[in-house]
Amino acid sequence: MWYNNADAAYHQSLTHLGLTHLLMEGVTVATHRNLSQSHPAFKLLAPHFLYLIAINTRGLEVLISEGGWVDKVMNTGIKGMFELIKRGIESWYLDVDGTLPADLKRRGVNTPEKINGDWELQNWGKELALSREQGGVGLLGIPNDGTFKTIDDISKVLTCIVYTCSVSHASTNFPQYEEYAFTPNYPGMMRGKPPNSKDPVEECRILASLPDKLTTLDIMVVTKILSGRGTKSLGDFEVQYVFDPKATGIVDE
Ligand SMILES: [Fe+2]
Repeated sequence: MWYNNADAAYHQSLTHLGLTHLLMEGVTVATHRNLSQSHPAFKLLAPHFLYLIAINTRGLEVLISEGGWVDKVMNTGIKGMFELIKRGIESWYLDVDGTLPADLKRRGVNTPEKINGDWELQNWGKELALSREQGGVGLLGIPNDGTFKTIDDISKVLTCIVYTCSVSHASTNFPQYEEYAFTPNYPGMMRGKPPNSKDPVEECRILASLPDKLTTLDIMVVTKILSGRGTKSLGDFEVQYVFDPKATGIVDE
């Protein structure tokens, strides 16, 4: 239980919140700042940002605010959570941590000349890589720090963003009720201190370590809501951005 309590702190701070929700919010902002709605990269990414800023804003107000849900039901509280996010984001590399095998190359949707001359895409890439101190997203591991040279460079970045917004988030978000709702399985909050010897402990000690009924109910209610599926499947998007016949063929495929 104590091990999983520590694991829960990592999961909620990094695997879920920090490295999907919050990381991709910067990407969403950079995308809207630099790419027009008619740009192919915008059309590809936009469906994956649906409700992202809305849920993050709501989360900041209700869940990760001072005295909010995280402060009430997790040992880390928001202070510890943000400390973990700060550390984790410093070792997250797009081309390592965010990459599944890319396949845009075979689609032949661009050429080297088009890539060099595509100022929307180049500005977008540079802003993704630009440090947070300088107003960028500050992603590490972007090929050539955002100066795209090959289709492979672009493919790597687009694939990471789609993957992080879909597969990576779904796998860390949807099992939350299953994992957290029965608190002995995956306690976000425990009372007292971990045992410091291997001596057997009584059942009453375990019960005393678990969160109280109201906190448990609070954990159950919110993880149940968070685990609900609010969007359609990949490719079956709520908003249609792609109309070019050649591109719709690729989406259908
Ligand atoms: Fe989520």
